[in-house]
Amino acid sequence: MFSDKISKGINGEVIIPGDKSISHRSIIIPSISKGICKISNILKSEDVLHTLNAFKSMGVKVEEINNDIIIYGNGLESLTKPDKEIYLGNSGTSARLLTGLLASQNFTTKLTGDDSLSSRPMKRITDPLSLMNANIATTNGKLPVLIKGNELKPNKININIPSAQIKSGLILAAINTKGKSTIIENGTTRDHTEIMLESFGANINITKKDGVKEITIEGKKELSSKDINVPSDLSSSAFFIVGALINKNSKIKIRNLNINPTRNGILIALKKMGAKINIYNEKMVNNELVSDIEVFSSNLKGCELDENFAKLMIDEYPILSIAASFAESPSVFRGLSELKVKESNRLELIKLNLVRCGVDCKVSNDDLYIFPKKNVSIVNNEIETNYDHRIAMAFTIMASKIGKLKINHSSSINTSFPSFISEFIKIGGKIS
Ligand code: S3P
Repeated sequence: MFSDKISKGINGEVIIPGDKSISHRSIIIPSISKGICKISNILKSEDVLHTLNAFKSMGVKVEEINNDIIIYGNGLESLTKPDKEIYLGNSGTSARLLTGLLASQNFTTKLTGDDSLSSRPMKRITDPLSLMNANIATTNGKLPVLIKGNELKPNKININIPSAQIKSGLILAAINTKGKSTIIENGTTRDHTEIMLESFGANINITKKDGVKEITIEGKKELSSKDINVPSDLSSSAFFIVGALINKNSKIKIRNLNINPTRNGILIALKKMGAKINIYNEKMVNNELVSDIEVFSSNLKGCELDENFAKLMIDEYPILSIAASFAESPSVFRGLSELKVKESNRLELIKLNLVRCGVDCKVSNDDLYIFPKKNVSIVNNEIETNYDHRIAMAFTIMASKIGKLKINHSSSINTSFPSFISEFIKIGGKIS
């Protein structure tokens, strides 16, 4: 796919699909609850459909009516052994959360994924699960994993990598474990799992002191289902937000956006850089904070972000790096080691592709430095994405400012945002 420079800015209202993290959880949690759940505005992307197919293959009745999905849940122990292995494509969230959930079921499951997912670390979830007596065999620490479901033992577990996926996998294991499990998290990662479980009546208690979060779960209590309205995905919207900020004469509007405070690092960072973003109509929907926003072309300045920001906006560094490339002063983003184990080594690809675009940058000790120039001239117009959707979308936006780029393997965009290209064209993007 080619993306090219635009002349008149981007303008109009953008429709951002449902949040990916909440969409996964809106399938997983109702599938082990009792009752019927109607999910509206669920993201129908490849990643989420892999989670949906996984639960269908474990006997969960699912109906699709218009754009809604209905899940008929039969309780904590109602899942049945799938006929074959469960293939999860590119989806790290499905892999980590399902590993936790399936560890306590009374059957054996094998989880597999595509080449990218099969190269990502799984021991980060299987090691702490083994402290609860889980019986899981990985393949050299990666997928395929064989999960021999058995009765787990409650334990007190300290998570030493900041990851909502690890935390959520452990919580889902604890939910079906008799007794009191405690999960301790240093710092803050997205809390959609905790929010949804609380509203489904789980016996979950959360305390926070000096930045340390303690989640206590009394397992084996049946959950009761509720309808879910999935808000729009802030991570997906970030591409258009930055597109509007860096291109002159732009003004866009996005409605019903999830701005959960454990996810809103990108808005805080961009505002620190001088971005003109209005946030209004704030309200709570299913206990998630939602608002409308307007974004205007802005003169950005560079900023320094410490490692705590990484937890609040881990998926947004590729597009934040594009914003930083057009700021008036340099930026440094610290503590980005987790970017190396995403759908690709994002730290390496951000650097490689920025350099191809003619932007000066360097990586030192997992910190990314960006030194913007007045006039950027493209060195090599081929963008290497390694099938990573967020790299593909970030550099599509880059092209709107600097000129024609060839985005390799752009079909990966379907993993999280199938309507990205049509939405971008609708507001003025030039794609061929
Ligand atoms: C996610 C958590 C993040 C994020 C991913 C979705 C989730 O991963 O990168 O896109 O839904 O829990 P980590 O928590 O492992 O950083």
